[in-house]
Amino acid sequence: MDSKNLFKKAAELIKSSQKTMVLTGAGISTESGIPDFRSPGTGLWENMDPTEVLSTKVLFNSPEEFYRVGFKILSSMRNAEPNEAHYILSEMEKEGIIAGVITQNIDNLHQKAGSKKVYEVHGNTREGSCLRCGEKVSFELLEEKVAKEEIPPRCDRCGGMLRPDVVLFGDPMPHAFDLALKEVQESDLLIVIGSSLVVAPVNFLPGMVDGLIIINATETPYDYKADVVIREKASYALRNIWNLIKS
Ligand code: APR
Repeated sequence: MDSKNLFKKAAELIKSSQKTMVLTGAGISTESGIPDFRSPGTGLWENMDPTEVLSTKVLFNSPEEFYRVGFKILSSMRNAEPNEAHYILSEMEKEGIIAGVITQNIDNLHQKAGSKKVYEVHGNTREGSCLRCGEKVSFELLEEKVAKEEIPPRCDRCGGMLRPDVVLFGDPMPHAFDLALKEVQESDLLIVIGSSLVVAPVNFLPGMVDGLIIINATETPYDYKADVVIREKASYALRNIWNLIKS
């Protein structure tokens, strides 16, 4: 089926759905200049093992390495701007077409584009916290301390080590994941945009809903289950689908 028909089928499914949730991954932010993790050739994990770089093992056992390598990756995601795909999702929420966005991304671009209901199931790069007393700090403070070579960065209140509020490999899932799970269980349609769907437990979500639309540049393990699989760039696909829904 050519893309035009796929867009039409997706638009029809979205219009007839009682409740639609969206699940996004790094692929929705590549058009904002943030590399994803697993795209062949450009993915961040091409030449480093994520479980080594952004894991609690490296944070706790060799914090110096964590703050010299992993932390830089987190920092690099913070100064990007939303692209058309983020803005269309924000419009869809305002028009009541989607109930909210579940994102694996920590780049804050859905919120910058105006989305209100955003479940950050892999944490965020807005804040950090002290491992000893739990004090909340801004991500900027972490960046300032690391820039001044205070590695690992220490809590000004109790001297404990500070960490970013990103979900690292080895961390338990945040409460946002429980809320996202409930939303998906109450939905009849999930639109996946820009995710390879290889990381658990987020990749369980597409298996929990009847209707499934996947917009992704490459194959995913859930393509067999999807009603519609669209092999296009996120912004191009969403622009076409949104125009059909509005027309
Ligand atoms: N439009 C559509 N799809 C795209 C685009 C685009 N413009 N750019 C990239 N993609 C697709 C890629 O083909 C890839 O399949 O997006 C997918 C991104 O997959 P990953 O890089 O694996 O990112 P993601 O699924 O978000 O990773 C999940 O892994 O490392 C952890 O915690 C990290 O949240 C991340 C998790």
